[in-house]
Amino acid sequence: MAHHKIVTLERHIIEGERSHPGATGNFSNILRDLSLAIKIIWREVSKAGLVNILGATGTENIHGDQVKKLDVLADDVIYKAMDHTGHLCVMGSEEHEEILKIPTNYPKGKYVLLYDPLDGSSNIDANVSIGTIFSLYRRITPNGDGTLEDCIQPGYKQIAAGYVVYGSSTMLVYTTGDGVHGFTLDPSIGEFLLSHENIQIPKRGKIYSVNEGNYKWWDSGVKKYIKYLQEEDKPTNRPYSGRYIGSMIADVHRTLLYGGIFLYPGDSRNPNGKLRLMYEGNPIAYIMEQAGGRAIDGSRRILDVVPKKLHQKTPVFVGSEEDVTICEKFLKEG
Ligand code: AHG
Ligand code: MN
Ligand code: MN
Repeated sequence: MAHHKIVTLERHIIEGERSHPGATGNFSNILRDLSLAIKIIWREVSKAGLVNILGATGTENIHGDQVKKLDVLADDVIYKAMDHTGHLCVMGSEEHEEILKIPTNYPKGKYVLLYDPLDGSSNIDANVSIGTIFSLYRRITPNGDGTLEDCIQPGYKQIAAGYVVYGSSTMLVYTTGDGVHGFTLDPSIGEFLLSHENIQIPKRGKIYSVNEGNYKWWDSGVKKYIKYLQEEDKPTNRPYSGRYIGSMIADVHRTLLYGGIFLYPGDSRNPNGKLRLMYEGNPIAYIMEQAGGRAIDGSRRILDVVPKKLHQKTPVFVGSEEDVTICEKFLKEG
């Protein structure tokens, strides 16, 4: 009989931390608290379609409470699961313009959490996969309330990053700089179980993922690259297949497992594209690189970009090493 170890997310994090001398366990606690928030979000996401038949009228539910939009709810759940734990000094959410302070009555910790509570939220009503993205840094300021400075650090300073896909099953994928590991939620026991150990992205894929509706506004380098992918050439598996879900996290997850490239370039209307550096670009770049892939903004590693603003946008080209390198060449030649 094939023997597979059954490893929960919590056990995996604890073992991982043990192998780092001097670790205090704070870090395991942060990821464990976060996984609780994620299970709550998953519960709400999985009954999203039921809201209307379970008695809600308009925006009020049976208790007369306002029914929160799922992205607002997810945002709230993460904040409330993390604000009182004593591990964080500040948070930042894609849903809020400003940094999120820890309430005055709670202790302030050493870490900074940035998150996109619900990615791909325009897809919810069509029952298409959506996700949650997170990114963790050590604080820069010595103590007290964390500041904007703690939140806008370059991506290479991340100490952990991960995402969840609420799909045909719910998966959590994370890295702490020791490879990329994937866990699948077993809903009957409410545990994330290790299902994809040490994920490696294929060196080259045969799928590209981009919103081609923006073609008209792209730079010529991007246009030529996409045309190149559509040409026929058997040895390099061209033409590639096009796949675009419109939930970055789902498109990126497929890219991680199957290989290929996901891109959201800048264009003449939006020079830096649409995706946000701190909430989407950096965590995805960290995971891609840890899985043996690449992540660039067109001319440099996304992880090397020095951010100036919390909600700064960045062009994104991520995926298999060879695919991103070929794309980079087209961008350079213009
Ligand atoms: P969010 O739902 O967090 O605002 O992010 C939406 C993003 C991302 O998930 C996706 O890749 C992209 O928007 C799709 O944008 P287009 O509709 O412009 O392709
Ligand atoms: Mn998003
Ligand atoms: Mn979002």
